[in-house]
Amino acid sequence: MEGKAGDQAALDELLQRAREAARHAYAPYSNFRVGAALRLTSGAIVTGTNVENASYGLTVCAERTAVAQAVVKFGPEIRIAEVAVTNLNHAASPPCGACRQVLAEFIEPDAPVAFATADGVRVMPFRELLPEMFEKRRG
Ligand code: THU
Repeated sequence: MEGKAGDQAALDELLQRAREAARHAYAPYSNFRVGAALRLTSGAIVTGTNVENASYGLTVCAERTAVAQAVVKFGPEIRIAEVAVTNLNHAASPPCGACRQVLAEFIEPDAPVAFATADGVRVMPFRELLPEMFEKRRG
């Protein structure tokens, strides 16, 4: 199914893809298994999962592996139209601050960002998740 960013069906599909990605998490230290899915403006969906490290601080979040995967696959001109983040731990997983800044580089300001909450899913436009973002290229 190829939905349009913002549609309920498209969002459900993106959340499902994020859940599937979370199954590949490398999270032996936290056991917190996160999955992220990005819908690009081209319609392509790219996923990521968290990859932890024994040094802890070198851990990479699901959102950031998804962004890297999107650039590797489709090149530096990608734009993100919609994001979904979830986890297999029945917990909330809003994107962390570092991931918001990394998403900012490629995302449309009004792109819906859906993330798991303790009891469901919350959807917010990206610009509300990271107002007054640091930007060099634009603005
Ligand atoms: N994590 C993510 O994958 N995304 C976030 O936005 C926040 C945290 C991961 C990092 C680590 O592997 C685990 O969740 C626990 O912090």
